[in-house]
Amino acid sequence: MSLIQIGVLGAGTMGTGIAQVAAQSGHSVVLVDVNSEALKKSGDSLQKVLNRLVEKGKMDETQKEQIWDRIQFSSLYEDFKGCGLIIEAIVEKLEVKHEVFKRMEAIVSADCILASNTSSLSIASIGSALQKPERCVGIHFFNPAPLMPLVEVIPAVQTSAETLKKSKDLIDSWKKKSVIVKDTPGFIVNRVARPFYGEALRIYEEGIADFATIDWAMTSIGGFRMGPFTLMDYIGNDVNYTVTETVFEAFYYDPRFKPSFTQKRHKEAGYYGRKSGKGFFDYSENAVPAKANEDPKLGQEIFERILVMLINEAVDAVFLNIASREDVDVAMTNGVNYPKGLLKWADEMGLTVVLEKLETLFEEYGEDRYRPNPLLKRMVKAGQTFY
Ligand code: NAI
Repeated sequence: MSLIQIGVLGAGTMGTGIAQVAAQSGHSVVLVDVNSEALKKSGDSLQKVLNRLVEKGKMDETQKEQIWDRIQFSSLYEDFKGCGLIIEAIVEKLEVKHEVFKRMEAIVSADCILASNTSSLSIASIGSALQKPERCVGIHFFNPAPLMPLVEVIPAVQTSAETLKKSKDLIDSWKKKSVIVKDTPGFIVNRVARPFYGEALRIYEEGIADFATIDWAMTSIGGFRMGPFTLMDYIGNDVNYTVTETVFEAFYYDPRFKPSFTQKRHKEAGYYGRKSGKGFFDYSENAVPAKANEDPKLGQEIFERILVMLINEAVDAVFLNIASREDVDVAMTNGVNYPKGLLKWADEMGLTVVLEKLETLFEEYGEDRYRPNPLLKRMVKAGQTFY
């Protein structure tokens, strides 16, 4: 079977990773960027990654050469001509995306799929620039693309069933875990994960615990690979704050997604996290690691409060048909490495317990963010479980 040629537009962090994934799956790839320096940097970083894979024994020299030879680095959109699918991974600006999608459509064949790796724009708005918007779909990878198994596949209102099926089958053939998500802000992961940061920040702001203690609760008791503050420092408070603000705006200012002043001030101060040497924690050479208050009762309280908020968000995604319950769980375990699917976790904890905890918070605070989801209430009433 001959493999279709894959195009990738934008040779930055994501484009380079996506090109690597496609080439490793046997496709010939055309990687286009308007910036020659970006192309050079992309080639250098790819060489480095492939060399490391050889050193680690994950592939041999011949395989490495084959993968490298399959990727054509180019500054010309015309080189996309023979592609069966192109994934765009350039700047997050709608006007620019419109321009490049129109340009690509003028070059490719009638059945070429044009996909976007956008994190925050709607696929419907991107596809609207096309003559044939039914060929447009969202194919959203996670960073680093070669390592993170999850890919969210997002049909827009215009996307044809054929485009969706072909895209999903292709991603599955790349040994990725694909999930289908409605074209709504944050898709699955960036929507459902909001309370991991937001509720942790809120707990800190209320003076219940400091950063180190909240992180300790989530890792030691909750089993999460990283605590929320370590993770925000890792992602960058500038980037993470912007995602939160974008999701908040996109949801017509639903108070559930309200950003936090604490994170905003850290961002404003230039306390981005690891990359700036200081964030919620200090990353300078002689820094003394912050000490957690390892009080088991306090830790359990923090962990459960954040967990039920995450579960409520996962339930909401199912309630509003954003994705299936299986896909919501697959997304969180494969896109952000949660130790368990949130809905499976809810079953284990007992839906009645989850609901009671949310009701207690809602009653105490009277704030919309703690409002238990109707689906959760219905399921408890009917004595149902997710699985
Ligand atoms: P980046 O800034 O690393 O790379 C973007 C590349 O696009 C640059 O090399 C730039 O020269 C090139 N470019 C800009 N305009 C262009 C044009 N008109 N034609 C051709 N090339 C052009 O950006 P990054 O981080 O790779 O993100 C790209 C896209 O992927 C964005 O839509 C972003 O939202 C999305 N995304 C980013 C993730 C991340 O963690 N960085 C995760 C998932 C999605």
